[in-house]
Amino acid sequence: MKITLKSNAKIFSQKTDCLFIPLQTDKTLPKYLKELDELLNGALRALYKSKDLPLKLGQTYLLPCPQQSFSRIIFVSCPKQLQLKTLRAMIASVRNTVKDLAVTQAHWLTEMLIDKSLSSEAIITEIASQHISLNYQYDGTFQTQKTPNTLQSIGINADTNKANKEACKNGKALGEGINTAKHLGNLPANICTPTYLASQAQLLAKSDDKLSCKVLSEAQMKKLGMGSLLSVTAGTEEAAKFIILEYSGAAKTQKPTVLVGKGVTFDSGGISLKPGGGMDEMKYDMCGAASVIGTFNAISLAAPKANIIGLVAAVENMPSGIATKPGDVVTSMSGQTIEVLNTDAEGRLVLCDALTYAERYKPKAVIDIATLTGACIVALGKHASGLYSNDDKLQQALVDAGTESHDRVWPMPLWEEYDLQLKSNFADIANIGGPQAGSVTAACFLARFTKAYNWAHIDIAGPAWVQGVNKGATGRPVGLLFNYIMNNA
Ligand code: BES
Ligand code: MN
Ligand code: ZN
Repeated sequence: MKITLKSNAKIFSQKTDCLFIPLQTDKTLPKYLKELDELLNGALRALYKSKDLPLKLGQTYLLPCPQQSFSRIIFVSCPKQLQLKTLRAMIASVRNTVKDLAVTQAHWLTEMLIDKSLSSEAIITEIASQHISLNYQYDGTFQTQKTPNTLQSIGINADTNKANKEACKNGKALGEGINTAKHLGNLPANICTPTYLASQAQLLAKSDDKLSCKVLSEAQMKKLGMGSLLSVTAGTEEAAKFIILEYSGAAKTQKPTVLVGKGVTFDSGGISLKPGGGMDEMKYDMCGAASVIGTFNAISLAAPKANIIGLVAAVENMPSGIATKPGDVVTSMSGQTIEVLNTDAEGRLVLCDALTYAERYKPKAVIDIATLTGACIVALGKHASGLYSNDDKLQQALVDAGTESHDRVWPMPLWEEYDLQLKSNFADIANIGGPQAGSVTAACFLARFTKAYNWAHIDIAGPAWVQGVNKGATGRPVGLLFNYIMNNA
């Protein structure tokens, strides 16, 4: 999809299929639309007098303009106090209005949006990223390819200064990154294996000089002592892969930020087998990994001056005659022994070794992203990811990035009392902490492996995908991670 920034001059003589115009429809006709009203022989004044206004928030009004260089206008209602959330809803509703029309190219007028609570940069980034994200359709596994979306080009009428141009570029980068994460998430587990994830990461690295990718085999992981990670892959024929992405956008002396993704390409539960209903959705258990690769795609396009490492622990969790059994004790790379009381609590087992591996980078911060617990969905639902951190500043920066990108996270506790639930009689730690506070005890488990650096854990079990007729990956939390990196790294 093409997204371009256009200067404000001569908007109304531009040839286009459609103008998207935000309107505060409970007010009088705004001054800057007087010229348009004259062009349309008073049609706007008449609209403002008619009973069709005011429109409800996000509601659209289609005005055909056969005499003009623009073929139609879609007005979309916006509030006085604009939030990212409302802007997102406005974009979705114009997108929905043009869906079945012959509109291949359209222009947003941003004047009505600027000068409110959002910066012009934020508005431009949002328009660009959302249009690209909304144009995503899954086409991985059908006999015939889906027909492409009609809308293929968006112009954004705004001041073409440097900051706005940068915002447009970043928005495009973010949109592509979100779609990469959605696509990897949606691919079935018989295609999207650990080997496939590794090949996609390598492909991405090839396209960018600043990006490199290394993939460790099971033999190499064994040498490193990743006994916990390897215990999860014991029951499957699929080879596990440890994927290392390195983005160098700043001097070598600058400490990197490390993103760690849970990449369980299918989570059957292992010997602690899950019930059958809805088990297909456990192909989404690699959405943490998908968000890391998607964020790297966005980073590669936006080219920030920062050093970022991505670590993806990619494994399949299956039962078999040689699978890990409940009660088995395994030794992690950190040396801590783990009693595997439940083979379905496998995410923490793969992450802990990746988190120990992260120490070698002497990182500024380590953030892991994982579809870790069903309990987190019980706690926070689909709207927020659970956030755990051993550093208050990092925690606040992530909360802020979540608010700014409307890809929100909510802080949860890592208290000692919860950690005590992980006591084992036969190893240094058990991999489950009983029925209470399952999301917290999972985070406490990870905290035992992250004492060497500033760390945050994001449990995305709720937001990573939606169920029902629109079943599909959401691409979250690429928006949050990208915003955090662009602002802080
Ligand atoms: N991948 C699941 C968590 C999950 C379940 C995410 C449903 C999204 C939707 C994870 O590996 C898991 O199975 N966790 C168990 C932990 C339990 C055995 C302590 C869970 O949440 O039930
Ligand atoms: Mn599991
Ligand atoms: Zn899992």
